[in-house]
Amino acid sequence: EKGNYRHFMAKEIHEQPEVISHTLASLVDMTSETVRLPSLPFDWKNLSRLTISACGTASFAGQVAKYWFERYARLPVEVDIASEFRYREAPLEKGGLSLFVSQSGETADTMAALRYCQENGQHTLAVVNVPTSTMSREADAMVRTLAGPEIGVASTKAFTCQLAVLACLAIGAGKARGTLTPEAEKELVRALIEAPRLMAEALRLDHEIEACARDLSKAKDVLYLGRGTSFPLALEGALKLKEISYIHAEGYAAGELKHGPIALIDESMPVVVIAPFDAIFEKTVSNMQEVAARGGRIILITDEEGAKAAALPGAKTIVMPAMPSVVSPLVYSVPIQLLAYHTAVLIGADVDQPRNLAKSVTVE
Ligand code: M6R
Repeated sequence: EKGNYRHFMAKEIHEQPEVISHTLASLVDMTSETVRLPSLPFDWKNLSRLTISACGTASFAGQVAKYWFERYARLPVEVDIASEFRYREAPLEKGGLSLFVSQSGETADTMAALRYCQENGQHTLAVVNVPTSTMSREADAMVRTLAGPEIGVASTKAFTCQLAVLACLAIGAGKARGTLTPEAEKELVRALIEAPRLMAEALRLDHEIEACARDLSKAKDVLYLGRGTSFPLALEGALKLKEISYIHAEGYAAGELKHGPIALIDESMPVVVIAPFDAIFEKTVSNMQEVAARGGRIILITDEEGAKAAALPGAKTIVMPAMPSVVSPLVYSVPIQLLAYHTAVLIGADVDQPRNLAKSVTVE
Protein backbone atom coordinates (compact mmCIF):
# COMPACT_ATOMS: atom_id res chain seq x y z
CA GLU A 1 0.00 0.00 0.00
CA LYS A 2 0.94 3.64 -0.52
CA GLY A 3 0.80 4.59 3.16
CA ASN A 4 0.97 8.36 3.55
CA TYR A 5 2.26 8.91 0.06
CA ARG A 6 0.29 10.11 -2.96
CA HIS A 7 2.07 7.74 -5.30
CA PHE A 8 4.00 4.49 -5.11
CA MET A 9 6.90 6.28 -6.74
CA ALA A 10 7.15 8.77 -3.85
CA LYS A 11 6.92 5.95 -1.33
CA GLU A 12 9.60 3.97 -3.13
CA ILE A 13 11.93 6.98 -3.36
CA HIS A 14 11.58 7.51 0.39
CA GLU A 15 12.14 3.82 1.17
CA GLN A 16 15.64 3.98 -0.23
CA PRO A 17 17.65 4.49 2.97
CA GLU A 18 16.00 1.40 4.41
CA VAL A 19 16.27 -0.92 1.42
CA ILE A 20 19.85 0.15 0.74
CA SER A 21 20.65 -0.76 4.36
CA HIS A 22 19.17 -4.21 3.87
CA THR A 23 20.93 -4.77 0.59
CA LEU A 24 24.29 -3.67 1.98
CA ALA A 25 23.82 -5.74 5.13
CA SER A 26 23.55 -8.83 2.92
CA LEU A 27 26.93 -8.20 1.27
CA VAL A 28 29.04 -6.36 3.80
CA ASP A 29 30.42 -7.24 7.21
CA MET A 30 29.70 -4.07 9.16
CA THR A 31 32.15 -4.78 12.00
CA SER A 32 35.22 -5.65 9.96
CA GLU A 33 34.17 -3.20 7.19
CA THR A 34 34.80 -5.77 4.49
CA VAL A 35 32.76 -7.09 1.58
CA ARG A 36 31.35 -10.58 2.03
CA LEU A 37 30.12 -11.97 -1.29
CA PRO A 38 28.26 -15.27 -1.63
CA SER A 39 30.38 -18.03 -3.13
CA LEU A 40 30.38 -17.64 -6.88
CA PRO A 41 31.07 -20.36 -9.47
CA PHE A 42 34.05 -18.55 -11.04
CA ASP A 43 37.27 -16.93 -9.92
CA TRP A 44 37.58 -13.16 -10.38
CA LYS A 45 41.35 -13.64 -10.77
CA ASN A 46 40.93 -15.64 -13.96
CA LEU A 47 38.80 -13.10 -15.79
CA SER A 48 40.14 -10.91 -18.53
CA ARG A 49 36.88 -9.14 -19.31
CA LEU A 50 33.40 -8.58 -17.95
CA THR A 51 30.34 -8.13 -20.16
CA ILE A 52 27.29 -6.39 -18.72
CA SER A 53 23.86 -6.42 -20.44
CA ALA A 54 20.60 -4.86 -19.30
CA CYS A 55 17.77 -2.58 -20.46
CA GLY A 56 16.66 0.92 -19.50
CA THR A 57 17.45 2.03 -15.98
CA ALA A 58 19.17 -1.28 -15.19
CA SER A 59 21.59 -0.62 -18.06
CA PHE A 60 22.53 2.71 -16.46
CA ALA A 61 23.35 0.87 -13.24
CA GLY A 62 25.58 -1.30 -15.44
CA GLN A 63 27.23 1.80 -16.88
CA VAL A 64 28.05 3.12 -13.41
CA ALA A 65 29.43 -0.31 -12.52
CA LYS A 66 31.81 -0.16 -15.47
CA TYR A 67 33.66 2.75 -13.79
CA TRP A 68 33.82 0.80 -10.53
CA PHE A 69 35.03 -2.54 -11.95
CA GLU A 70 37.65 -0.81 -14.04
CA ARG A 71 38.85 1.44 -11.21
CA TYR A 72 38.77 -0.97 -8.27
CA ALA A 73 39.31 -4.37 -9.91
CA ARG A 74 41.23 -3.27 -13.04
CA LEU A 75 38.85 -5.48 -14.98
CA PRO A 76 37.95 -4.27 -18.49
CA VAL A 77 34.18 -3.96 -18.83
CA GLU A 78 31.90 -3.81 -21.80
CA VAL A 79 28.35 -2.61 -21.15
CA ASP A 80 25.63 -2.86 -23.73
CA ILE A 81 21.89 -2.61 -23.86
CA ALA A 82 20.55 -6.14 -24.15
CA SER A 83 18.51 -5.52 -27.32
CA GLU A 84 21.72 -4.64 -29.19
CA PHE A 85 23.99 -7.14 -27.48
CA ARG A 86 21.79 -10.14 -28.28
CA TYR A 87 21.92 -9.58 -32.04
CA ARG A 88 25.39 -8.24 -32.65
CA GLU A 89 27.15 -11.60 -32.50
CA ALA A 90 29.73 -10.47 -29.96
CA PRO A 91 32.73 -12.80 -29.81
CA LEU A 92 33.15 -14.02 -26.23
CA GLU A 93 36.20 -15.73 -24.80
CA LYS A 94 35.35 -19.09 -23.21
CA GLY A 95 35.13 -18.97 -19.43
CA GLY A 96 34.45 -15.23 -19.34
CA LEU A 97 31.91 -13.58 -17.07
CA SER A 98 28.66 -12.01 -18.20
CA LEU A 99 26.56 -10.01 -15.79
CA PHE A 100 22.87 -9.17 -16.17
CA VAL A 101 21.00 -6.52 -14.22
CA SER A 102 17.22 -6.59 -13.94
CA GLN A 103 14.57 -5.56 -11.45
CA SER A 104 11.93 -7.99 -12.74
CA GLY A 105 14.22 -10.76 -13.94
CA GLU A 106 11.78 -11.20 -16.83
CA THR A 107 12.88 -8.64 -19.43
CA ALA A 108 12.85 -10.45 -22.79
CA ASP A 109 15.96 -8.88 -24.29
CA THR A 110 18.03 -9.34 -21.14
CA MET A 111 16.93 -12.98 -20.95
CA ALA A 112 17.93 -13.51 -24.58
CA ALA A 113 21.33 -11.93 -23.90
CA LEU A 114 21.79 -14.31 -20.96
CA ARG A 115 20.98 -17.34 -23.10
CA TYR A 116 23.36 -16.14 -25.82
CA CYS A 117 26.14 -15.89 -23.24
CA GLN A 118 25.41 -19.35 -21.88
CA GLU A 119 25.53 -20.81 -25.38
CA ASN A 120 28.88 -19.09 -25.81
CA GLY A 121 30.55 -20.60 -22.76
CA GLN A 122 30.23 -17.68 -20.34
CA HIS A 123 29.67 -17.81 -16.61
CA THR A 124 26.44 -15.92 -16.01
CA LEU A 125 25.70 -13.81 -12.96
CA ALA A 126 22.39 -12.00 -12.49
CA VAL A 127 21.65 -9.06 -10.20
CA VAL A 128 17.89 -9.39 -9.75
CA ASN A 129 15.17 -8.01 -7.50
CA VAL A 130 12.51 -10.69 -7.99
CA PRO A 131 14.08 -13.90 -6.65
CA THR A 132 11.51 -16.21 -8.24
CA SER A 133 12.06 -14.81 -11.73
CA THR A 134 13.19 -16.62 -14.87
CA MET A 135 16.54 -14.86 -14.79
CA SER A 136 17.24 -15.93 -11.21
CA ARG A 137 16.53 -19.50 -12.21
CA GLU A 138 18.50 -19.59 -15.42
CA ALA A 139 21.66 -17.72 -14.47
CA ASP A 140 24.54 -19.73 -12.98
CA ALA A 141 24.57 -17.43 -9.98
CA MET A 142 22.39 -14.67 -8.60
CA VAL A 143 22.85 -11.79 -6.21
CA ARG A 144 19.65 -10.24 -4.95
CA THR A 145 18.79 -6.60 -4.61
CA LEU A 146 16.64 -6.34 -1.49
CA ALA A 147 14.51 -3.45 -2.72
CA GLY A 148 11.23 -5.25 -2.02
CA PRO A 149 8.36 -5.05 -4.52
CA GLU A 150 8.63 -2.03 -6.82
CA ILE A 151 5.18 -0.97 -8.03
CA GLY A 152 5.81 2.37 -9.76
CA VAL A 153 6.65 1.85 -13.43
CA ALA A 154 9.59 4.25 -13.05
CA SER A 155 12.38 2.35 -11.37
CA THR A 156 13.82 4.12 -8.31
CA LYS A 157 14.70 1.97 -5.31
CA ALA A 158 15.54 -1.02 -7.51
CA PHE A 159 18.10 1.15 -9.34
CA THR A 160 19.91 2.31 -6.21
CA CYS A 161 19.88 -1.22 -4.80
CA GLN A 162 21.43 -2.41 -8.07
CA LEU A 163 24.14 0.22 -7.58
CA ALA A 164 24.74 -1.00 -4.01
CA VAL A 165 25.12 -4.62 -5.15
CA LEU A 166 27.34 -3.70 -8.09
CA ALA A 167 29.62 -1.57 -5.87
CA CYS A 168 30.05 -4.56 -3.53
CA LEU A 169 30.76 -6.87 -6.46
CA ALA A 170 33.39 -4.48 -7.83
CA ILE A 171 35.04 -4.16 -4.42
CA GLY A 172 34.91 -7.95 -3.96
CA ALA A 173 36.46 -8.38 -7.40
CA GLY A 174 39.21 -5.89 -6.56
CA LYS A 175 39.98 -7.74 -3.36
CA ALA A 176 40.10 -11.12 -5.12
CA ARG A 177 42.28 -9.75 -7.93
CA GLY A 178 44.65 -8.04 -5.50
CA THR A 179 44.03 -4.59 -6.96
CA LEU A 180 42.53 -3.23 -3.73
CA THR A 181 44.51 -3.23 -0.51
CA PRO A 182 42.65 -4.19 2.69
CA GLU A 183 42.83 -0.50 3.73
CA ALA A 184 41.32 0.62 0.42
CA GLU A 185 38.56 -1.97 0.79
CA LYS A 186 37.76 -0.75 4.30
CA GLU A 187 37.63 2.84 3.15
CA LEU A 188 35.19 2.00 0.33
CA VAL A 189 32.99 -0.15 2.57
CA ARG A 190 32.92 2.56 5.23
CA ALA A 191 31.77 5.00 2.56
CA LEU A 192 29.03 2.65 1.33
CA ILE A 193 27.73 2.12 4.86
CA GLU A 194 27.11 5.87 5.01
CA ALA A 195 24.83 5.74 1.96
CA PRO A 196 21.51 5.33 3.84
CA ARG A 197 22.23 8.31 6.11
CA LEU A 198 23.33 10.45 3.15
CA MET A 199 20.23 9.46 1.17
CA ALA A 200 18.03 10.42 4.11
CA GLU A 201 19.74 13.83 4.11
CA ALA A 202 19.16 14.18 0.39
CA LEU A 203 15.46 13.35 0.89
CA ARG A 204 15.21 16.35 3.20
CA LEU A 205 15.93 18.62 0.20
CA ASP A 206 12.52 17.72 -1.20
CA HIS A 207 11.12 21.28 -1.09
CA GLU A 208 14.10 22.85 -2.83
CA ILE A 209 13.94 20.16 -5.47
CA GLU A 210 10.23 20.73 -5.95
CA ALA A 211 10.95 24.43 -6.54
CA CYS A 212 13.40 23.46 -9.33
CA ALA A 213 10.79 21.12 -10.77
CA ARG A 214 8.56 24.15 -11.41
CA ASP A 215 11.14 25.32 -13.86
CA LEU A 216 11.31 21.94 -15.58
CA SER A 217 7.54 21.59 -15.77
CA LYS A 218 7.38 24.56 -18.17
CA ALA A 219 10.13 23.30 -20.46
CA LYS A 220 9.78 21.47 -23.74
CA ASP A 221 13.27 20.01 -23.64
CA VAL A 222 15.74 19.43 -20.82
CA LEU A 223 19.40 18.50 -21.00
CA TYR A 224 21.20 16.52 -18.26
CA LEU A 225 24.99 16.65 -18.04
CA GLY A 226 27.51 14.69 -15.97
CA ARG A 227 31.01 13.23 -16.11
CA GLY A 228 32.42 9.99 -14.78
CA THR A 229 29.82 8.03 -12.82
CA SER A 230 27.58 11.12 -13.03
CA PHE A 231 27.30 10.57 -16.79
CA PRO A 232 25.10 7.45 -16.49
CA LEU A 233 23.18 9.35 -13.82
CA ALA A 234 22.52 12.08 -16.39
CA LEU A 235 21.14 9.38 -18.69
CA GLU A 236 18.99 8.05 -15.85
CA GLY A 237 17.74 11.55 -14.97
CA ALA A 238 16.69 12.16 -18.55
CA LEU A 239 14.95 8.77 -18.83
CA LYS A 240 13.07 9.32 -15.57
CA LEU A 241 11.83 12.73 -16.72
CA LYS A 242 10.78 11.47 -20.16
CA GLU A 243 8.90 8.47 -18.93
CA ILE A 244 6.78 10.09 -16.25
CA SER A 245 6.42 13.75 -17.34
CA TYR A 246 6.53 13.27 -21.15
CA ILE A 247 8.99 16.16 -21.42
CA HIS A 248 11.75 15.52 -23.92
CA ALA A 249 15.06 15.12 -22.13
CA GLU A 250 18.54 13.98 -23.06
CA GLY A 251 21.49 12.93 -20.99
CA TYR A 252 24.99 13.72 -22.22
CA ALA A 253 28.54 13.30 -21.06
CA ALA A 254 29.45 16.90 -20.17
CA GLY A 255 32.53 16.72 -22.40
CA GLU A 256 30.36 15.94 -25.43
CA LEU A 257 28.53 19.25 -25.18
CA LYS A 258 30.82 20.98 -27.66
CA HIS A 259 30.39 18.17 -30.14
CA GLY A 260 26.80 19.01 -30.92
CA PRO A 261 24.22 19.52 -28.18
CA ILE A 262 25.49 23.00 -27.28
CA ALA A 263 23.69 24.19 -30.42
CA LEU A 264 20.41 23.52 -28.62
CA ILE A 265 21.10 25.85 -25.70
CA ASP A 266 18.96 28.96 -25.32
CA GLU A 267 16.94 30.69 -22.59
CA SER A 268 14.14 28.16 -22.83
CA MET A 269 16.31 25.11 -22.15
CA PRO A 270 16.92 24.04 -18.57
CA VAL A 271 20.19 22.16 -18.12
CA VAL A 272 20.55 19.90 -15.10
CA VAL A 273 24.22 19.50 -14.17
CA ILE A 274 25.19 16.64 -11.86
CA ALA A 275 28.57 17.53 -10.39
CA PRO A 276 29.74 16.43 -6.96
CA PHE A 277 32.96 18.20 -5.92
CA ASP A 278 35.37 15.49 -7.06
CA ALA A 279 38.48 15.07 -9.18
CA ILE A 280 36.65 15.96 -12.40
CA PHE A 281 34.47 18.74 -10.98
CA GLU A 282 36.48 21.56 -12.61
CA LYS A 283 35.98 20.01 -16.03
CA THR A 284 32.21 19.83 -15.62
CA VAL A 285 32.10 23.42 -14.35
CA SER A 286 33.83 24.70 -17.44
CA ASN A 287 31.17 22.93 -19.56
CA MET A 288 28.54 24.54 -17.36
CA GLN A 289 30.03 27.98 -17.97
CA GLU A 290 29.67 27.39 -21.68
CA VAL A 291 25.98 26.73 -21.11
CA ALA A 292 25.59 29.84 -18.93
CA ALA A 293 27.32 32.01 -21.54
CA ARG A 294 24.62 30.99 -24.02
CA GLY A 295 21.77 31.85 -21.70
CA GLY A 296 20.98 28.26 -20.67
CA ARG A 297 19.10 27.95 -17.36
CA ILE A 298 21.17 25.80 -15.04
CA ILE A 299 20.08 23.58 -12.19
CA LEU A 300 23.29 22.47 -10.51
CA ILE A 301 23.30 19.47 -8.19
CA THR A 302 26.50 19.57 -6.14
CA ASP A 303 27.75 19.92 -2.56
CA GLU A 304 28.83 22.98 -0.58
CA GLU A 305 32.39 23.00 -1.91
CA GLY A 306 31.06 22.62 -5.42
CA ALA A 307 28.54 25.43 -5.01
CA LYS A 308 31.30 27.71 -3.75
CA ALA A 309 33.71 26.79 -6.51
CA ALA A 310 31.12 27.05 -9.29
CA ALA A 311 29.97 30.51 -8.16
CA LEU A 312 27.45 30.84 -10.96
CA PRO A 313 25.08 33.71 -10.17
CA GLY A 314 22.16 32.62 -12.35
CA ALA A 315 22.19 28.94 -11.44
CA LYS A 316 19.73 27.25 -9.13
CA THR A 317 21.75 25.00 -6.86
CA ILE A 318 20.67 21.89 -4.99
CA VAL A 319 23.27 21.58 -2.23
CA MET A 320 23.91 17.97 -1.28
CA PRO A 321 25.94 16.70 1.66
CA ALA A 322 29.64 16.07 0.98
CA MET A 323 30.55 12.39 0.46
CA PRO A 324 33.23 10.02 -0.84
CA SER A 325 32.91 9.58 -4.59
CA VAL A 326 32.01 5.85 -4.47
CA VAL A 327 28.60 6.64 -2.91
CA SER A 328 27.71 9.68 -5.00
CA PRO A 329 25.83 7.70 -7.71
CA LEU A 330 23.54 6.24 -5.04
CA VAL A 331 22.95 9.48 -3.20
CA TYR A 332 22.68 11.76 -6.24
CA SER A 333 19.98 9.44 -7.59
CA VAL A 334 17.64 10.91 -4.96
CA PRO A 335 17.47 14.49 -6.33
CA ILE A 336 17.35 13.12 -9.88
CA GLN A 337 14.30 10.99 -9.02
CA LEU A 338 12.58 13.74 -7.03
CA LEU A 339 13.06 16.25 -9.85
CA ALA A 340 11.28 13.94 -12.28
CA TYR A 341 8.63 13.03 -9.73
CA HIS A 342 7.67 16.61 -8.84
CA THR A 343 7.73 17.70 -12.46
CA ALA A 344 5.30 14.92 -13.37
CA VAL A 345 3.03 15.77 -10.42
CA LEU A 346 3.00 19.47 -11.38
CA ILE A 347 2.05 18.54 -14.92
CA GLY A 348 -0.67 16.25 -13.65
CA ALA A 349 0.68 13.12 -15.31
CA ASP A 350 -0.10 9.62 -14.07
CA VAL A 351 3.14 9.09 -12.16
CA ASP A 352 2.81 5.41 -11.31
CA GLN A 353 1.28 4.31 -14.61
CA PRO A 354 2.77 6.44 -17.38
CA ARG A 355 1.11 6.09 -20.77
CA ASN A 356 2.37 3.40 -23.15
CA LEU A 357 4.63 1.77 -20.55
CA ALA A 358 4.57 -1.57 -18.76
CA LYS A 359 6.44 -2.38 -15.57
CA SER A 360 8.13 -5.33 -17.13
CA VAL A 361 8.85 -5.69 -20.83
CA THR A 362 8.48 -9.40 -21.52
CA VAL A 363 8.22 -9.13 -25.30
CA GLU A 364 10.91 -7.63 -27.48
O1 M6R B 1 12.91 -5.31 -14.98
P1 M6R B 1 14.12 -4.71 -15.64
O2 M6R B 1 15.04 -4.06 -14.66
O3 M6R B 1 14.85 -5.69 -16.51
O4 M6R B 1 13.55 -3.56 -16.56
C1 M6R B 1 14.38 -2.83 -17.42
C2 M6R B 1 13.69 -1.61 -17.96
O5 M6R B 1 12.52 -1.96 -18.65
C3 M6R B 1 13.33 -0.61 -16.85
O6 M6R B 1 14.42 -0.25 -16.07
C4 M6R B 1 12.70 0.66 -17.45
O7 M6R B 1 13.65 1.37 -18.18
C5 M6R B 1 12.08 1.49 -16.31
N1 M6R B 1 10.71 1.82 -16.61
C6 M6R B 1 12.84 2.76 -16.04
O8 M6R B 1 12.29 3.53 -15.03
